[in-house]
Amino acid sequence: MIIFRYLFVFFLAASLTNSVVVAQQNGTVSCPLDFNVLLRLGSGLETPKMDLPGQCQYIRQSLRLVLSDYLRRTGNFLPPLNSSELCWRAYQTLINRYVSNFDVRSRCGFQTSWISEGCMNITTKSQFENLIPNSTLDDVVSNCNQSLEISSPCAACTTSLSRLQASYLTGSSVGNVSNCLAFPSIYAAAVANQFGPTDKGTATCLFSLVFNESGKKGKKKKGVIVGVLVACGVVLLLIISGVWFLWHKRVISNRERKKREAISNIEKGLEAISESTNLVRFTFDEIKKATRNFSRDNIIGRGGYGNVYKGVLPDGSEVALKRFKNCSAAGDANFMHEVEVIASVRHVNLVALRGYCIATTQLEGHQRIIACDLMTNGSLYDHLFGNMGRKLSWPMRQKIALGTARGLAYLHFGAQPAIFHRDIKASNILLDEMFEPKVGDFGLAKFTPEGMTHLSTRVAGTMGYVAPEYALYGQLTDRSDVYSFGVVLLELLSGRKALVMNDDGQPSLVSDWAWSLVKNDRALDVIDNSMPELGTPEVLEKYVMIAVLCSHPQLYARPTMDQVVKMLETELSVPTIPERSISLVAEMEEIEKSMSSTSGSGHLASFPGYHLFTEQPRHSSHKEEEENSDSRIV
Ligand SMILES: *[C@@H]1O[C@H](CO)[C@@H](O)[C@H](O)[C@H]1NC(C)=O
Ligand SMILES: *[C@@H]1O[C@H](CO)[C@@H](O)[C@H](O)[C@H]1NC(C)=O
Ligand SMILES: *[C@@H]1O[C@H](CO)[C@@H](O)[C@H](O)[C@H]1NC(C)=O
Ligand SMILES: *[C@@H]1O[C@H](CO)[C@@H](O)[C@H](O)[C@H]1NC(C)=O
Ligand SMILES: *[C@@H]1O[C@H](CO)[C@@H](O)[C@H](O)[C@H]1NC(C)=O
Ligand SMILES: *[C@@H]1O[C@H](CO)[C@@H](O)[C@H](O)[C@H]1NC(C)=O
Ligand SMILES: *[C@@H]1O[C@H](CO)[C@@H](O)[C@H](O)[C@H]1NC(C)=O
Repeated sequence: MIIFRYLFVFFLAASLTNSVVVAQQNGTVSCPLDFNVLLRLGSGLETPKMDLPGQCQYIRQSLRLVLSDYLRRTGNFLPPLNSSELCWRAYQTLINRYVSNFDVRSRCGFQTSWISEGCMNITTKSQFENLIPNSTLDDVVSNCNQSLEISSPCAACTTSLSRLQASYLTGSSVGNVSNCLAFPSIYAAAVANQFGPTDKGTATCLFSLVFNESGKKGKKKKGVIVGVLVACGVVLLLIISGVWFLWHKRVISNRERKKREAISNIEKGLEAISESTNLVRFTFDEIKKATRNFSRDNIIGRGGYGNVYKGVLPDGSEVALKRFKNCSAAGDANFMHEVEVIASVRHVNLVALRGYCIATTQLEGHQRIIACDLMTNGSLYDHLFGNMGRKLSWPMRQKIALGTARGLAYLHFGAQPAIFHRDIKASNILLDEMFEPKVGDFGLAKFTPEGMTHLSTRVAGTMGYVAPEYALYGQLTDRSDVYSFGVVLLELLSGRKALVMNDDGQPSLVSDWAWSLVKNDRALDVIDNSMPELGTPEVLEKYVMIAVLCSHPQLYARPTMDQVVKMLETELSVPTIPERSISLVAEMEEIEKSMSSTSGSGHLASFPGYHLFTEQPRHSSHKEEEENSDSRIV
């Protein structure tokens, strides 16, 4: 069906756009770029809802796609310098069709020559390939030569690209049109991906361009054309599905096992979506009754935002009730919206939100309470560091690691909009009666009284679970969660806390300690040997490597949660861990350097892997986000 839709859209777009012939010629020089690829893709350049930086970003991403098409056709990354003026004019002509009075170069601060200058003087495909080791290029091809329409292959591809960039394209860039951050995507779309930059999946993944779902433009046109096209489409569909069927049959016999795996993954996905939410709005009296008037005996947790009570609903079911302190009625609409979003996210490894309560009482003031499923086995923290008696066995720890990773991967890639947790720690991972882990407290950071209290100081020692770039700059990406996950995984493997004070009062991070062991080929020394039913050394070592990779101080070295799940679930090997200093504190300076050296303000935002989470079509909420940096939902 997807094939059909795409063919259909493609036909519509191809036949209905009266393709622009832009003035590309001037004497003997001409612009070799083909801007019509944008029209053929149907992306247009309509950016009405965006603010200026957003528009410039979109225009720049579109240009990178055009450059990628050029690379695919000619083997050159950049048009010759003497054609740069004409290329800008050609692009300007196209932009004028969508936005009037918008001079690209002056509005977006692009210099004319930048369209022909890029990264480390690389201009051709072979120069690029000579610079990068074959193994890295192979890695890019193996990750990017597939349909990038789905989030997980896309994440795999952008991660391998970010590794390439971080390791080999560290030289200086000219300008910010097609700099060293952009080159890997331009290359991957042009060379590594079989579908090329003009494939919608590829364009969305690598250039973050947004396409309208169906041929909206077609509606205005004559039904006859549509009819003919539909007929063509149906015939094509029949042929394609016939071919597909035959091919599929062959593949099935070849890869019986893989198929079964795939099916089980799909089932997991469906299970994750589950039935629509039925969020209950409780009255304050109901909550009071459930918690026996907020009895002290019912308190099961205390956090920065307030207390957590155990409650029993009239139907006998037990819930955990979080009562936020110091709230005012002003944020209620926002709160309700967030609660609805959180409630719509359902996954077997996420704590489910049951309901909420908003009320103002004479005695107690304004109240906000949310009700979640109660987890009978407490938190991972209780089991690792509390006195729960028996130590968790290795198989249980494995189950907890995998479940937590799945829950987080769902938050990042399954939820719409994507949610960054921001506060992953052992005490936020709850265990049900079967010891199935459930990640709790996602989407709640903005309701803590003064934001994230542990970020109020820049001392590395306070970080523990928090990724350095987030602690230092508030740079929030999915990889900040990956960092915290890595720390939790290390705690799970070693039984040591994220942060301990040495005898001399110096803070020591579990991730630094683990890295020092791994660096000296003593990965297995990370493992708490007293845990029952230890696994094989190979498996244990793999878990240690994954944990160390996830908690790498350099953002780009960390995998995505999707990849972590894949590594934990399958035989997929763990990539080599990029070198780092033994101490995170010592590394801070380097991180600071790497974040400021890159062009402009848009360092992270301009890296392809992050667009998906920060810049996708949610323009309306985007603005809000910038104003309210406390929000966890992006
Ligand atoms: C051709 O380029 C020259 C200078 O490069 C410029 O003065 C002239 O206006 C251009 N002509 C057209 C038709 O774009
Ligand atoms: C423009 O530059 C290219 C390559 O640098 C060169 O081959 C071509 O002759 C130049 N054209 C003119 C008109 O200077
Ligand atoms: C996409 O759809 C929106 C409305 O849903 C419309 O305003 C916009 O013009 C469309 N853009 C393109 C490129 O078709
Ligand atoms: C590109 O760089 C210029 C000048 O450094 C800056 O004004 C502009 O905002 C940058 N554009 C983008 C999209 O980052
Ligand atoms: C790029 O080329 C220019 C001149 O051709 C040269 O000055 C500069 O050092 C080169 N940069 C790199 C990174 O090779
Ligand atoms: C890399 O691959 C290219 C072509 O595939 C080959 O010519 C080259 O010798 C290889 N380089 C190394 C170091 O293996
Ligand atoms: C990508 O895969 C296709 C089909 O499997 C293959 O034909 C193509 O050569 C591959 N591309 C690269 C760069 O290896």
